[in-house]
Amino acid sequence: MALILLLVCALMLNGARAEEPADLAEKYRRPPSEWPAFVVDDGVQAEDIAPLPALPPVAWHTPESEELGKLLFFDPRLSGSGQLACISCHDPQLGWGDGRRVAAGHDRRAGRRNAMTLLNAAYFDRLFWDGRADGLLDLALQPIQSPAEMNADLEQVIARIRGTQRYLQAFEEAFGSPGVTGERIARAIASFVRSIVSSTSRFDRFAQGDYRRLTNQEIQGLHLFRTRARCMNCHNGPRFSDGQFHHTGLSYYGRRFEDLGRYDVTGNPEDRGKFRTPTLRDVRHTGPWMHNGLFDDFTGILRMYNRGIPVGARARPGAPKLSLLIRPLDLDDHEIEALEAFLGAIGRRPAFVEPPALPGLAESASDSGGTTELLPAGTIRTP
Ligand code: HEC
Ligand code: HEC
Repeated sequence: MALILLLVCALMLNGARAEEPADLAEKYRRPPSEWPAFVVDDGVQAEDIAPLPALPPVAWHTPESEELGKLLFFDPRLSGSGQLACISCHDPQLGWGDGRRVAAGHDRRAGRRNAMTLLNAAYFDRLFWDGRADGLLDLALQPIQSPAEMNADLEQVIARIRGTQRYLQAFEEAFGSPGVTGERIARAIASFVRSIVSSTSRFDRFAQGDYRRLTNQEIQGLHLFRTRARCMNCHNGPRFSDGQFHHTGLSYYGRRFEDLGRYDVTGNPEDRGKFRTPTLRDVRHTGPWMHNGLFDDFTGILRMYNRGIPVGARARPGAPKLSLLIRPLDLDDHEIEALEAFLGAIGRRPAFVEPPALPGLAESASDSGGTTELLPAGTIRTP
């Protein structure tokens, strides 16, 4: 008797928890303002997920500066060795990352962190995994000068650019007067990176009223994302990120791969192990994932969140505390599949970006009989 009662209770509980996908779909196939409310913990400020708004215009970004920035982005002459360009580590076809665990910089030396996607970077005030750059203008020259990345001397780069007639013209067109300066290089590169934004996903179309764009399973995933899976506590708003820093248990404190993230920037003990919440737009195309690139199994990441990111057994004494927003979720396999399906619907297959013809290279190619040396590292040449 008691057993039957228990069974009935269990069935009822189960029924209350897992809503039928078709009923749920009915609740979501309507304007977002009428969707079931999203759920976050007390004290968490969150905005609903939604299509990306247009970027507010800034005075330094013009079509001409963006075009010049594209040339510079593809140009390995901005590196010390002449072999690395921004494109070497931020490849559009690899989701504007490099597909590696950690980036291979100057001398092919392995860096410390995973190359971030550049998609939607313009929507963040604090850039890099640890937020050490304040916006794109502040960031633009850092990779060029960083010994671990392009390892170049800025004055030398400026001299190389000045030596190329077509660049001199492009700078004059972009800025209305002749002159190549570090500040102008930064503005041009920042302008181009500002143009790198996720294209409209199926989720966006759905939220705009095209209700056929998501399957019932994806809608179930959308609902879980906004409620029981707790993702909205951090991955919220149109960027799918709060732009804040959290410790999600991946500091590897006291072990190989230790990285204290935000703490190295602020020196505040509370920031140990915190990293910026990344955008989840196009996330299926930007692996491997996390600041250390140690995660190449996407479903594995969801299972890890589902278990509440258990680090307890491996934690060393004095290890930073896990964010209180991370907790076991109790999702079953079907729910994890639904969540994964939804995450696939907030991205699009990466588009091919036509490389520009770089100023001055055609001439030097005919002089030296080839441009092999100046190709971005990792470029595959088809015969
Ligand atoms: C050797 C590989 C490499 C090269 C070359 C490189 N990057 Fe990066 N990029 C990275 C890595 C790794 C990170 C993350 C670093 C970190 O968080 O500490 C990153 C992060 C960024 C970010 C931050 C994105 C965000 O959302 O916060 C931007 C923007 C960026 N790079 C732009 C550029 C530009 C522009 C160039 C060329 C001037 C460039 N990168 C060259 C590896 C590279
Ligand atoms: C406490 C805030 C928080 C919550 C809650 C949270 N995340 Fe994250 N998420 C982060 C941070 C911070 C990172 C980067 C961590 C790192 O690299 O060390 C991250 C990284 C990720 C990544 C890797 C992205 C990349 O570009 O490498 C995925 C995928 C992801 N989260 C999905 C989810 C999903 C799905 C949920 C809900 C089940 C969720 N997150 C809940 C903060 C959070």
